[in-house]
Amino acid sequence: MGEVRSARESIFYTVVLAATIALLYTFQAEFQDSLPIRFSSYDEIESVFGVLENAEESKYDFESERSCNHTFYELTHGEEGRLDNGTLTGVHIFLRHGHRTAMDSKRAKKTPRNLCDIRSTVKKMMINQKACFTSLLESAMSVYTQSDKCISSQLTALGVEQHKRLGSFLRSRYSSFTPDFAVHSTTYSRTFLSALSFLSTFDKSICTKTAIQPTKDTYFRGEAKPCPSSNLLKKYFKEKTWTNTSIEYRQKLTKLYKDTWLDVIADQLFIESCSSSCFSHRCKTSAKHEKCLTDNDFKNFTSMVASVNYEYFKNENYQRHSYLSVKPLIKRLFSETQSYQIYSGHDLTIGAILSYFDFFPSFRIPFASRVVFEFFEGDSFRVLFNGVQIFPKLLNQTVQIAEFSDEEKFKKLFPSSKSMKDACSKQLIKNFRRRKRHLDS
Ligand SMILES: *[C@@H]1O[C@H](CO)[C@@H](O)[C@H](O)[C@H]1NC(C)=O
Ligand SMILES: *[C@@H]1O[C@H](CO)[C@@H](O)[C@H](O)[C@H]1NC(C)=O
Ligand SMILES: *[C@@H]1O[C@H](CO)[C@@H](O)[C@H](O)[C@H]1NC(C)=O
Ligand SMILES: *[C@@H]1O[C@H](CO)[C@@H](O)[C@H](O)[C@H]1NC(C)=O
Ligand SMILES: *[C@@H]1O[C@H](CO)[C@@H](O)[C@H](O)[C@H]1NC(C)=O
Repeated sequence: MGEVRSARESIFYTVVLAATIALLYTFQAEFQDSLPIRFSSYDEIESVFGVLENAEESKYDFESERSCNHTFYELTHGEEGRLDNGTLTGVHIFLRHGHRTAMDSKRAKKTPRNLCDIRSTVKKMMINQKACFTSLLESAMSVYTQSDKCISSQLTALGVEQHKRLGSFLRSRYSSFTPDFAVHSTTYSRTFLSALSFLSTFDKSICTKTAIQPTKDTYFRGEAKPCPSSNLLKKYFKEKTWTNTSIEYRQKLTKLYKDTWLDVIADQLFIESCSSSCFSHRCKTSAKHEKCLTDNDFKNFTSMVASVNYEYFKNENYQRHSYLSVKPLIKRLFSETQSYQIYSGHDLTIGAILSYFDFFPSFRIPFASRVVFEFFEGDSFRVLFNGVQIFPKLLNQTVQIAEFSDEEKFKKLFPSSKSMKDACSKQLIKNFRRRKRHLDS
């Protein structure tokens, strides 16, 4: 028995290695893709949403699934724009793109076609929101308008709908503001299209006047100098570790999902749980339990993913990376308190801002998440994440910019550095030990 087991284990680890290598490519794809998208008729999208909503009512068993709950609840609820005693002078809205297909193209191809075919939606946008399109944006969209096939990391019909709902909700909260919002987006088809979808309900007039400004920078730093240590630190926190699970359990999941990387499996489960029709590997009542996932398996996975995510966000190297990445942005925001802007980005963008304000989620950052900065007369501000105020910690309070300081935080994270310049030097990295590899524990 012991021998069988160790043979199995060695196969397991070989698979792990191969998958890790494969994954590195997937991650590269995440940051390099500027792939376009396709769309379907609006009626089809409606019909998809009919199905989805019914499916939700007749329940997903993956109970604490946040990304779907987010779709149907958090997108239309929140505290934004509800502070009675303050006059708003500026609003900055950071968005994560909406629901997308898997990063891996084989997996992505299994997405139901009706979620990927958004051709006519995009075509309509190209006409109705013409002024928002630069030539870069237009060429990013062309792939979507030309095919109905699912490709990797494309925005889906569900992703479009998420941002339409969010846009219309936030418009209801900021209805008294006439100033025009400036709009920025990273150069990915999914972030472009998320911005367009959001704007279509948030304020149609924006896309009759100004183009969406593209940026290659996930952290919207503008002209800020590069920070080498921030890039190097990425290697020091990326791995998410399988915890609290037996080897049999890992094997079952890695076999079913053909991947050993916890985060890839979690991503896939979240993607699927939002579009119930393709929720794979769930046990039907009659099935053998070795070959499919039981309710209990899902529960274990969810609780594991929760603790793993919390550890990930709490990791000091993650916090260091986040601090260095968003510091220039935060600095700029404090000098733009009379301005209205929308930024369409990624979970990395959202996560780094949350980390800067000491908010550490125990869940994956859901699709179509938002962080909103509200600035008030008298130069005070507050920060909200998905409708919940996260800074300052007391609800409905605000903080004077002049009284805000991140010095303590900086000292804690970079005890041997005197300035941002020091903290950004490559030398700095030597002080911080790399975490153990994900299979050690
Ligand atoms: C969905 O969100 C609502 C409101 O935040 C919460 O009360 C509910 O428990 C959530 N459901 C799940 C399954 O997470
Ligand atoms: C915060 O302000 C909103 C809007 O005025 C109000 O409904 C809510 O009760 C307040 N919350 C607290 C904790 O004061
Ligand atoms: C609104 O009132 C609260 C509680 O009195 C206070 O903490 C906050 O700073 C006020 N906000 C503004 C914008 O004046
Ligand atoms: C799942 O969790 C339960 C208790 O929460 C535990 O007894 C069980 O061993 C776990 N299963 C696996 C496969 O890890
Ligand atoms: C997993 O194990 C850690 C300790 O290694 C413990 O703190 C945590 O509560 C456990 N999580 C679950 C979901 O059992």
